Amino acid sequence: MKHFSRVVSLLLIFTLTELSVFCDSFPVTPQSVPPLMYGCAWYPEQWPESDWEADLTKMQAAGLNMVRIGEFAWSSLEPNENHYELDWMERAITAASKHGMVTIIGTPTDTPPAWMTTKYPEILRVTEDGTRLEHGSRRHFSIGSEKYRALCKKIVGKLAVRFGKNPNVVAWQIGNEYTEDSFDLESRARFHRWLERKYGSLEELNKNWGTAYWSQTYTKWNEIPMTTGRANPGLLLEYKRFVTDTWRDFQRDQIEVLRKQADPRQITTTNLGGLGWANRFNRQLIAADLDIISWDEYLGAGWFDKTKNGTGHLDPTRSGASHDLVRGWKQKNFWVMEMAPGYVDWGSVSNALDPGETRAMAWHAVGHGADGIGFWQWRSALNGQEQYHGSIVGPDGEPLPIYEEIAKTGAEFAIAGPVLNGTQPVSEVALLHDYDSRWAIEFNPFSQRYDQMQILIEYYRALSEATQSIDIITPEMDLKRYKLIIAPSLNVISTALAEKLTEYVLSGGHLVLGPRSGMKNEFNALNRWRQPGPLAITLGGRVEQYYALIEDLSVNGPWGSGKATIWAERLQPLGSDTEVMLRYGSGKSWLSEMPAAIRRRHGEGSITYLGAVLDDDLMGRIVFGWVKEAGISSPFIQVPQGIKVCRRTGNGNDLFIILNFSHCTEKITLPSSMVNVLTGSEVMSITLPRYDVVILKRSIKIN
Ligand code: GAL
Repeated sequence: MKHFSRVVSLLLIFTLTELSVFCDSFPVTPQSVPPLMYGCAWYPEQWPESDWEADLTKMQAAGLNMVRIGEFAWSSLEPNENHYELDWMERAITAASKHGMVTIIGTPTDTPPAWMTTKYPEILRVTEDGTRLEHGSRRHFSIGSEKYRALCKKIVGKLAVRFGKNPNVVAWQIGNEYTEDSFDLESRARFHRWLERKYGSLEELNKNWGTAYWSQTYTKWNEIPMTTGRANPGLLLEYKRFVTDTWRDFQRDQIEVLRKQADPRQITTTNLGGLGWANRFNRQLIAADLDIISWDEYLGAGWFDKTKNGTGHLDPTRSGASHDLVRGWKQKNFWVMEMAPGYVDWGSVSNALDPGETRAMAWHAVGHGADGIGFWQWRSALNGQEQYHGSIVGPDGEPLPIYEEIAKTGAEFAIAGPVLNGTQPVSEVALLHDYDSRWAIEFNPFSQRYDQMQILIEYYRALSEATQSIDIITPEMDLKRYKLIIAPSLNVISTALAEKLTEYVLSGGHLVLGPRSGMKNEFNALNRWRQPGPLAITLGGRVEQYYALIEDLSVNGPWGSGKATIWAERLQPLGSDTEVMLRYGSGKSWLSEMPAAIRRRHGEGSITYLGAVLDDDLMGRIVFGWVKEAGISSPFIQVPQGIKVCRRTGNGNDLFIILNFSHCTEKITLPSSMVNVLTGSEVMSITLPRYDVVILKRSIKIN
């Protein structure tokens, strides 16, 4: 009896302790992602636990409703092999939840710990010149290493078991900003196996890569080099696809482990860096395997002008295009997982954004379809490589001057979140951004003046004058939803893609191909037909020859007159129903009086080939015409230069997020009265100082 009562009391103590742990860490309601998520990267492992409460209190006061934790914390989660310390993470999640914040866990696979890289040096990344990396930074692992993959699956499995049902964990971020591929022997062998799977035989590979050229013919798979130098164009393109597949596998490994344990409520994402445009691998395919895609928006200039990396101010056109690109990978809303609260620490000049600019940047992202914004980072780390980076509170944990602006935005997000919930930008026009084509041109640009990203942005800029929402998509996506599709440099067109585009045109779509389109097939080999290769028949015309320009040429025709610059192709209509829309002016060049743009109608649809890069003014007028002809509605709210109007539609409402990026205060008269979402009042006009924002709502009548 005595023994029995001891057992009962022990059980009771055990149950109560368990219960208290349970009650402490598991609130009853499983949380879901807030309608407009607003958070920051928080590194609880870097701070004494006694600091957490003060940090979280300030986060809550700033309106933050999410923390992302863990993505670099492997050495704190598994300090020694098979020795796990996950309790601190659970306490951090619980503590955050008590301040109204949900958690996104970053899997820590970007930073393998020192015990691991010492014990298993084969997991370290090897650069193309053969250098094996040392410990001490991040991204020092090889994505091709089986051992590393297994170690990743193990830690992710542990985390999934522990937190997969945690009601406060709403999402998993896999790794952090996938970046570098590895040139170790294991990765090379993986590349060879990948090629073998794809081609089946070396004969097939040799044929499609044209390896008779320069005696490149391969007789064994392991003879094939793995390089990014000036190699065979077929090899270079396949290497990019291989890298994409390797990252995809790396990511899938983790998704599988997570999905076995995690609540379906917990969604998966990854945060892609490089200002969205980086192209080490095909980002649309990476996004395809995730529930939602995220990207990290740092100061806008960098990707387009490397000398300005991280320096400058928000360029709404480039930033807007980047958001639209990211949204296009899944044709749905996305998150900006990281945004600097003011400045970075890696710019050529790491200048601060102006007062109000960070708020504008956050709202601008939302306008383009972001349903969540995270700041990097909450508090300056005392040591480590990023001591100077922008944060919301300083190393002392006290607010920095930006704190107030972050809090103001947080208060606004709380009001607007429920109204924006379920809305998204809806575009009738898409620009095609194709990784294969982009790589193919990059391998040999032919003219350094042909900056394909700049050219794409110029199309985007012209389009955004004519219509207020643009998607940037890859050709793999659903094309049928657009009235107009513009492909500025669609260099690689496979037969399958040609069929898809032809079907689009025949079913009433308007397709515009820009210079360099349809030159190559999917093996990056030149087509046997002149450009646009398999689309020449649909076009009823072809490119006779292409020319890289040093000097501008005049052009004129039914579309107007102006200048051809950088690139010019001499076109030839092949059918009587192919119209010439622009001609080069007369002179002594190969292009004299030759067609520069041709168009062929197919019922309601049309296909246009524009063979030259045009000056901004003419481009603007032509794009305006394309938009009109495709029956795309003109912007509902007319605004002066410098004002950006973003539109999100859903639940029977149109939401307009209007931002002033000009230098002066602007007054805008609205076409009808609308509700100012933040104040609740009906307005007929708005007055916006620089960097200010207004969110307007109008109901759409459904017939
Ligand atoms: C990102 C990265 C963050 C942080 C940030 C600094 O690329 O994901 O961890 O390093 O840059 O700007």
